[in-house]
Amino acid sequence: MDLKKTDDTVMRRVRAMNDRINMLKENDLYFYNQPVTELRGGARVLVNGREMGMYASYGYLGLLGHPRIGAAAKAAIDRYGTGTHGVRTLAGTLKIHNELEETIADFKHAEAAVTYSSGYATNLSVVSTLMGRGDYVLSDKLNHASIVDGCLMSGAEFRRFRHKDMEDLEKRLQQVPSDRAKMVIADSVFSMDGDIIDLPKMVELCKKYDAWLMIDEAHSVGVLGKTGRGIEEHFGMNDVIDIKMGTLSKTIPSVGGYVAAKKEIITYLRHASRAYIFSAALPPAQAAAANEAFKVILDEPWRIEKLNQNTHQYINGLKGMGFDTMLTETAIVPVLCGSDERAFSLTREAQHHDVFVLPVVSPAVPEGLARLRATITAAHETDEIAYAMEVIGKAGKEIGII
Ligand SMILES: Cc1ncc(COP(=O)(O)O)c(C=O)c1O
Repeated sequence: MDLKKTDDTVMRRVRAMNDRINMLKENDLYFYNQPVTELRGGARVLVNGREMGMYASYGYLGLLGHPRIGAAAKAAIDRYGTGTHGVRTLAGTLKIHNELEETIADFKHAEAAVTYSSGYATNLSVVSTLMGRGDYVLSDKLNHASIVDGCLMSGAEFRRFRHKDMEDLEKRLQQVPSDRAKMVIADSVFSMDGDIIDLPKMVELCKKYDAWLMIDEAHSVGVLGKTGRGIEEHFGMNDVIDIKMGTLSKTIPSVGGYVAAKKEIITYLRHASRAYIFSAALPPAQAAAANEAFKVILDEPWRIEKLNQNTHQYINGLKGMGFDTMLTETAIVPVLCGSDERAFSLTREAQHHDVFVLPVVSPAVPEGLARLRATITAAHETDEIAYAMEVIGKAGKEIGII
């Protein structure tokens, strides 16, 4: 079939991307979409026949392969099979979905919770269901794409404030007519930078300007707070966020997303959000795995301590070598490389020495701020982290990053 149309706008876009990918492949600089063929213990994987240390996974507490979680998933398959054959509203709701939502509400100290089939769909659907034309959404400039897409889809006036700049947020809140509904939305931990939002100040501003507050906890559940409950626990605050969003695909070794909030809000979302009404329910095994994982987090607090120790070892080690790890305070650790090419070269050296780590380049981050982004987990051993740092340090010197 000939892909050429009279107007070749689409094909120009398609070819530009294909050309960039082909150029990277020809120079041995393309590291995306590589299949992992085996998990080997905590943080080691088999990729292209080579065993590598995994530094690109969001499994912060090392729960993938946990026997209790695996057993819960298997039992759910035995009981319910592998799918739901329906949306939650019709035939898709299983007892395990309700149990999972109760577990999440309890974990997040909220009245109720609702789950969706992905974190992406959760943000898209929840923001666009709660907000609409004539309303205002105020979003941190570095928020995740799913929040941005939800804001755009809502049809509300979309305002971005400078990253973590609470003065700028206040200025923008002052510009919203007082009779309009408004929602402030931010990531708790920013996925490209690893820094933490100033929740206390944000809560204060939302109260002052009568705005709803929604926080995406994709990278804070299991990471922040003594018991891993997330950003409120981290700041010693209790139930101050109106809409607590999270995913079941990062610390929680499953797939899906959730929102925890007041009961009335959850009931509304169950009957008005399109990703809930028009998309199949979570498969039973995934719901059961997620349900068990929240319990394991509370039963095994040593994992959070180990994650913190590992994170400090890695960040301090890299800083000691002279790398710029930007503003990270968490297990997401960027190493600033500058150009995309330098980030790709550092990745190549790391991967050639069996450290599975990936670059983040434009347009995901602004040009000139390309980075190698590693994620640290509780499953890494001290000597594994030391080895990864040695490899990155040596390569960083060769490429001229340090
Ligand atoms: C901050 C944030 N929100 C939402 C998502 C989407 O979650 P999921 O991958 O579960 O769809 C991600 C995923 O990377 C994320 O980093």
